[in-house]
Amino acid sequence: MWSAVRRAELCFSAAAMVMVMRQANTSSSYGGLRLATQATKELPKASTPPPAPTPLPDAPLFKAKKLEDWLGPESFQYKGLLVSREPTWKDCQDVVDRVANRGEFGEDDDIKVKGVSAKEDLVAVADKLLVKVKLPEDVCEAIRRDVLEVGATVRSLCPWSDGLDFKLEIIGENSCTRWHRDNYCARAIVTYNSGGTEYAADANVDFWELENCGNNACIIKDPSEICAVGVGDVLFMKGQKFPKGPRGLVHKSPEILYHYNGLVVNRLVLKVDVP
Ligand SMILES: [Fe+2]
Repeated sequence: MWSAVRRAELCFSAAAMVMVMRQANTSSSYGGLRLATQATKELPKASTPPPAPTPLPDAPLFKAKKLEDWLGPESFQYKGLLVSREPTWKDCQDVVDRVANRGEFGEDDDIKVKGVSAKEDLVAVADKLLVKVKLPEDVCEAIRRDVLEVGATVRSLCPWSDGLDFKLEIIGENSCTRWHRDNYCARAIVTYNSGGTEYAADANVDFWELENCGNNACIIKDPSEICAVGVGDVLFMKGQKFPKGPRGLVHKSPEILYHYNGLVVNRLVLKVDVP
């Protein structure tokens, strides 16, 4: 009797469990669909994955067609910026040597206008740089235009700067021909005769030699990979204190040259410095 009752209970329990399971399956099945439907409606759209970091370019310079191109985001990826130009002035080597030998640039071989704020008129800066020296008119025009255009571009590139230093300089034997990185924010430079600044990609530099002692031959791994900007080009070099992105372009002045008579070949250079 007991076993018959117990068997009946067990059968009832089993049947009840099957019903519960069926209900559960049914409900989870519909519930799952309902949930899926709700999820489709309620979940936010998949967000766009963040872009992969852009690898730094191998080339040290961003080469642009015009100065305005330097103001785009691409320029922050490079240690230096370049606009190559054909000179609009005739060769002025003889005049530059004459002016240098007469000492028209003073004891320091330069004419400076320092601490030019963002509000100051760049026309007045150009006047101050050019008033004391006698250079051909086409060279003066080029310098005047560069003070305005390069100066305005550097202001835009470095809006955090308190002031810019403009310098018109004669460089003869007083040049810095050892490879180095500038220990300030930045410099824009234009050379009006002879030859322009040399620079090197990081991959071509032995940085231990650069920082610790090496001479030029030890610093550069492959001399055939050294680059140089041309007369008339505008080069912007980021120094060690440039506040954002790659900085510290490795560069130097071109080798000192001499005329057949033994006198040094002088270069006329405009610098716009961001201290
Ligand atoms: Fe330098």
